[in-house]
Amino acid sequence: MRDAAPQTIYLSDYTAFGWRVEQVSLHFTLAPSATRVRSRIAFAPNADAPAQPFFLHGEALTLISARIDGQDITPDVTAEGLTCTVPDSAFVFEAEVEIDPAGNTALEGLYMSNGMYCTQCEAEGFRKITYYPDRPDVMAVFDVTIEGDLPVLLSNGNPVSTAQGRAEWHDPWPKPAYLFALVAGDLVAHPGSFTTRSGREVALNLYVRPGDEGKCAFGMQALKDSMKWDEDVYAREYDLDLFNIVAVDDFNMGAMENKGLNIFNSSAVLASPETSTDMNFERIEAIIAHEYFHNWTGNRITCRDWFQLCLKEGLTVFRDSQFTADMRSAPVKRISDVIDLRARQFPEDQGPLAHPVRPDRFQEINNFYTATVYEKGAEVIRMLKTLVGDEAYAQAVQLYFDRHDGDAATIEDWLKVFEETTGRDLAQFKRWYTQAGTPRVSVAEDWADGTLTLTFTQSTAPSAASPDPQPQVIPIAVGLIAPDGAEVATTRVLEMTEATQRFAFDGLAQRPVASILRDFSAPVVLDHPDADPAHLLAHDTDPFTRWEAARTLARRSLLAQIRDGAAPDEAYLDGIHRVATDRSLDPATRALMMGAPGQSELAGVLAEHGETPDPMAIHAALEDMRAAMAARFGGDAMMLYAENTVTEAYAPDAAQSGQRALAGVMLSLMTRGDNGTAAQAQFDHADNMTQKLGALAQLITAGRGDAALAAFEDRWRDDRLVMDKWFGLQVARAQPDDAADVAQRLTAHPDFNWQNPNRFRAVFGTLAMHHAGFHHASGKGYALLADWLIKLDPLNPQTTARMCSAFQTWKRYDTERQKLMKTQIDRILATPGLSRDTTEMLTRIAGA
Ligand code: ARG
Ligand code: ZN
Repeated sequence: MRDAAPQTIYLSDYTAFGWRVEQVSLHFTLAPSATRVRSRIAFAPNADAPAQPFFLHGEALTLISARIDGQDITPDVTAEGLTCTVPDSAFVFEAEVEIDPAGNTALEGLYMSNGMYCTQCEAEGFRKITYYPDRPDVMAVFDVTIEGDLPVLLSNGNPVSTAQGRAEWHDPWPKPAYLFALVAGDLVAHPGSFTTRSGREVALNLYVRPGDEGKCAFGMQALKDSMKWDEDVYAREYDLDLFNIVAVDDFNMGAMENKGLNIFNSSAVLASPETSTDMNFERIEAIIAHEYFHNWTGNRITCRDWFQLCLKEGLTVFRDSQFTADMRSAPVKRISDVIDLRARQFPEDQGPLAHPVRPDRFQEINNFYTATVYEKGAEVIRMLKTLVGDEAYAQAVQLYFDRHDGDAATIEDWLKVFEETTGRDLAQFKRWYTQAGTPRVSVAEDWADGTLTLTFTQSTAPSAASPDPQPQVIPIAVGLIAPDGAEVATTRVLEMTEATQRFAFDGLAQRPVASILRDFSAPVVLDHPDADPAHLLAHDTDPFTRWEAARTLARRSLLAQIRDGAAPDEAYLDGIHRVATDRSLDPATRALMMGAPGQSELAGVLAEHGETPDPMAIHAALEDMRAAMAARFGGDAMMLYAENTVTEAYAPDAAQSGQRALAGVMLSLMTRGDNGTAAQAQFDHADNMTQKLGALAQLITAGRGDAALAAFEDRWRDDRLVMDKWFGLQVARAQPDDAADVAQRLTAHPDFNWQNPNRFRAVFGTLAMHHAGFHHASGKGYALLADWLIKLDPLNPQTTARMCSAFQTWKRYDTERQKLMKTQIDRILATPGLSRDTTEMLTRIAGA
């Protein structure tokens, strides 16, 4: 079934639903291609809503029968739903529908994955299960009965009864339909338990397919840590007797916070040292926390409409970032988040897909689960906390929980608790939610008579979403470092509200070096021509700005190399060598400092300056930089490698991960000199995936990866998650000329199951991120991706549409590449029956 003609939905058109739902009973009789769903829904008129026809969403449903108050009715049914006449007072609507989980390749609604039934209803998937007002502001208590010949039958809430082939569930907490979940399959439970601070015992289960039992312990611990942390830091306690997590192999996103029954992409929960990298462990811990934290920020308080998505996502991402900072290293987490923001959110904000953190229109809401809504949404909350202070933040959030528990709320509600708590007017701050684009902040320094004056100017480029951007409230954290390296002014937060604004620091004996935007206090691009990054790299006390100083030096060197063919900057190489051998810095921070900006980030910087990035020149500059670094380090690389080799048993904690990260950077330097000898030794002896994969990457780079790749495949061919890494790594490490060919060759591999989103992304997501390979001058990268997006779209529009963002930067490049990309965009758009998801994405990318 195809989507109807695209229709734009506007925030300004919001109206309440005309009825309240008092109670919902659902009865499922499971069968792979003919599942029957019987519903009984008690409606009562909503006096607060305008008069409207009675309409229930419903898509891809076969209506068997419908009744109102026991009388058969014949509703008007369209591809979008059902309309019928209803009584003026309360009534009971009943329906029976048939659906086809086995034929559901879109992985939205009720579908099957490896013989197991599962659901994904956010945002608008419940309408593919039965007729219902599928909107987040309609909340109801659900009772669910599942009949099916499978050992495990799960739904939300608490179990009422379980028998062979039949289970009944009751969820006492009113919830919107997008939080509904059902799972049925041959699953095994990894059990656990948690005692809440008020002494209630909660049973925990991590359900997995037989064979995956050994990959559950870490996730279970992460869940317990999250439950404890949310009690300690946000005073939030869990509210059911049971909390279940299920791992599913076929899943469009990372995970889903369904009430009491979280469903996870198996890549976001299954972990073991032999099969998962340090980065996998950290990500899994964060996602488990994220979904758990949604129980309050998302479930108990949900969103009035999907425009308010950031209300739950921005806040929950911010909360999970605080959790990770507490569990691991706060500076390392902050720096990693900024790297991620620049890689994923800045291109969005600076290109044709730019949209506000709270968008005001959409065609397909699934296209707005973006880095802007999630990650920039979290940055906005971080700024709010910086501006009002920790104590007021805590008070305002508690007020939010007290006042809005059980509500479907808005950003206005959220800001109001801060205004009431602090007495501040947040009207201007609200622009962070309503205005698209990344502000650029320039700072000029003026030194006279012991006073340093900083003049800040902010501007945001106009975009289709925000043609006339206004000045934002920008918290700018500043400290001052004296020429001898001493900190003469500790961090002070300047609050910028005007287009141009001056701040003075007086009583200074000597002209200091300004350390600006400490801790990345606002999601802006900073332009500071008077900066002295070499001094800050040596002496800054703020871990973020110290890291940023290394980044600035690297960026300057790379830009000079690209623009003028300059050699890698000696001052940078000196500084980075000194930092790498500075044992007073933890290994994780040193590893981060050695990272150079990515190729795509450099292309973005050039484009911002009105220059046309040449992907091959960018690639070559980074290669030269790494070669120069290897030369500069010489034997120190091997010394640092040895020094950071972990001898204790593997643990995925921050300390060990940091050591392995630094050793991994050193291995990459060593490989330039030894043609992979050290990498081969590491590959042969490693007992964990972090080091195996790190060594394999180096062997491929050294041109001697074939034997190791074959051995790796042999060892892991039955493990999907590990094989995803095998597929991805070959594309990631391919030479620019070969990347598209390697990807194409891998699509012929018998295990290239392209309908599995993880596998599809392992090949094509990686190709899209291989800057020089994807942007190969021949256009073969573009054409290959387009071929496969056209193939995937009719089966899985969501994953197809998300991957279209590979083309979002097309206007940055030379006219030849622009033409090649535009040809592919137009070719996809011309595909008959293209989904609403992909049509919207590509239409926005192509521009008006
Ligand atoms: N609410 C989920 C999370 O952030 C994401 C689910 C989005 N799914 C979708 N199909 N758009 O944890
Ligand atoms: Zn979320």
